[in-house]
Parts: sequence; structure tokens; C-alpha cells
Amino acid sequence: MKIIVAGGTGFIGQHVCQILIENQHDVIVLSRNPAQARAHSNQKVSFVDWNALTHEIEQNIEGAEAYINLAGAPIADARWTPARKQTLLDSRVVTTRRLVEAIERLTVKPKILINASGIGFYGAADNVSMNESSLQGQGFLAELCQQWEHEANQATNQGVRVILLRLGMVLGSDGGALSKMVTPFKIFAGGPIAPGTQTVSWIHIHDLARLIIWLLETQTVLGPVNAVAPHSVTMQEFCKTLGKALERPSWLPVPGFMLNILLGELSGMLTTGQQVEPQKITHEGFTFTYPTLEPALSSLFQKTPTTVGSKND
Ligand SMILES: NC(=O)c1ccc[n+]([C@@H]2O[C@H](COP(=O)([O-])OP(=O)(O)OC[C@H]3O[C@@H](n4cnc5c(N)ncnc54)[C@H](OP(=O)(O)O)[C@@H]3O)[C@@H](O)[C@H]2O)c1
Repeated sequence: MKIIVAGGTGFIGQHVCQILIENQHDVIVLSRNPAQARAHSNQKVSFVDWNALTHEIEQNIEGAEAYINLAGAPIADARWTPARKQTLLDSRVVTTRRLVEAIERLTVKPKILINASGIGFYGAADNVSMNESSLQGQGFLAELCQQWEHEANQATNQGVRVILLRLGMVLGSDGGALSKMVTPFKIFAGGPIAPGTQTVSWIHIHDLARLIIWLLETQTVLGPVNAVAPHSVTMQEFCKTLGKALERPSWLPVPGFMLNILLGELSGMLTTGQQVEPQKITHEGFTFTYPTLEPALSSLFQKTPTTVGSKND
């Protein structure tokens, strides 16, 4: 199958491209800097120039059966000033709108669009379990996810099966939040972010890549899909388990007020949590290689290589 992956150069995108290639798919990555992406990649993918905010996709992309959209400026890399919030929004909402407009212009439409979103859709939700039928929460991230999903959903008017992939914290050793959390642990300064009781809903990158293959093949699934493992944990438990995997203590709690001073509104994303269930995919028969945290983290840090090979092993 010919598959377009927007944002395929990122942390999740590279793993997704790898599993698509291993499953014999023909992968075209849309990147704002294809020359640089080509120079840094050893994957058998083609790179096509796009800047969805200003101009259209450089090359004819007719003939793709699936679109996967993972593009977006990093959420937690900078303080959420009004300008930064606009960049976070535009790089998702406008980008998705342009991608759907490109689909509208195609003679033959793709069968499926898998569009990234986040469990931030549910707002702060620690004490109540959220599934795909739960309502949108409050706050900037919830609003961002709602607008992002709204744009992706427009592709349903073209007969496309749209999946709104509400991602939890994606665990990999080569990117995402976990790779940033590891540094203080390595210098014996790791510990939970206060209050410690907030729920962390997570998914191993290997399971996420397998889930994408499964979603491409499982025609009955559409709409919102929670991409999280079935066993969420508290932040305290997460950091204790991380410390164990890294053979380091988890003892130095990071106080919320300090995060607030350093990060402003962004700190709320770290000090509150979401207890989210993968209800839809579990019901439809997807099985996780890493349903629980300890083996998930051990696989990433204890020198047992993570393979992104088979689709439901
Ligand atoms: N990682 C997680 O735990 C997690 C959790 C929830 C949701 N998500 C969402 O899932 C998506 C993929 O996550 P990721 O961790 O793989 O992100 P990532 O590593 O930051 O990659 C995102 C990709 O988006 C493109 N991009 C960056 N800034 C952009 C901008 N201003 N406008 C348009 N495109 C831009 C980049 O591709 P080019 O430079 O090649 O154009 C980049 O490779 C993101 O939208 C993220 O918000 C991730």
C-alpha cells in the first residue's frame, strides 16, 4: 500500500515508518525540510517537500491509500506564551486543514486518515476513568485537540475512514518526554513531579507502531481511539519504576510551584494527569505487547532491543 506520513521525521514518525516498511508498504514522508530529512535518514522512504501553512504539497501524491498525520510543533519545548500557543495550534489545526484540502483535490481518495491527537482532549481527569465516549475537558490542550480533530473529521465527507488517535505519553528511549525525564535520573537527581498522585497514561512506542498497522487493517474501527496501555500509573509509581529500570533512585520530588515559575501554564500539563482506558481497541481485539509499565521500561533501558517488526506479536 502507498502511504503518506506527514511529520514522519519525528520521534513517533520514524518508528511508524519503520514498521510500515517492514510490512512492505511504500512510504512517502511529507517534511518541511526534505533535503535535511533525506540526509539524516537510513530508511527506505521518499521525502516530499511541504509547508502546509504557506503553500501546498510540492509533488503529486495521487494513489496513496492511507494518510497518517503526525505533524506538529513540540508541545513542551517552550513556555506557552500567546505566540507559542498560536504556533502549537497552527502547526496542527491549519496543517491538518491543508492536508484534508489536498485529499479533497485527489481524484481517488485514500481509504483512511490516521490523525494524531492527544489524551489532553479530556482535560485534567485523575479521579475518573476516561474512554472514547467521554466528553472534552477544559484548558488549552483540550481546546487544541478538539480543533485538531474537527479538521481531520472533515475528511469523512470524502468517504475517508478517519481515526483520531488520542495519544498518551509515548515511551521510547530515542525521543518524547521519557528521553527528557531520564537525564536527571542518570545523575541521581530523579524524582516524581508533584503532587505525584496524578495519573500517567502511557503507551510503549512498539505497541503504538503495531497499533497503526492494526488500525490500517481493522476496517471496523473509526473515530476517536485512545492510544494508551490498559494499566495507567501514578506519577510516583512511574518514577519509581523508571528509577528501577535505570538502576537509580527516585527520591528528589520536583515541586509544582517551581514548575509553575519555570514553565507557567505549561506546568499544568505535568502536575495534572489523565486516567484513560483503551476501550475501543481492546474491545475490537488489539493486544498489547507491553500492557504494564515495568516490562515496558525494562525493554527500553535494559539492553534488550525493541523490534518494531510484527504487527500483533
Ligand atoms: N510523543 C508523545 O508522547 C505524544 C503524545 C501526545 C500527542 N503527540 C502528538 O503526536 C505527534 C507526533 O509526536 P512526536 O513526538 O513524534 O513529535 P516530534 O518528534 O516533535 O515530530 C513532529 C514532526 O512534526 C513536524 N513539525 C515540527 N514543527 C512543525 C511545525 N511548526 N509545523 C508543521 N510541522 C511541524 C516535524 O517534521 P518536519 O520537520 O520534517 O516537517 C516533526 O518531525 C505530534 O503532533 C504530537 O503533538 C505526541
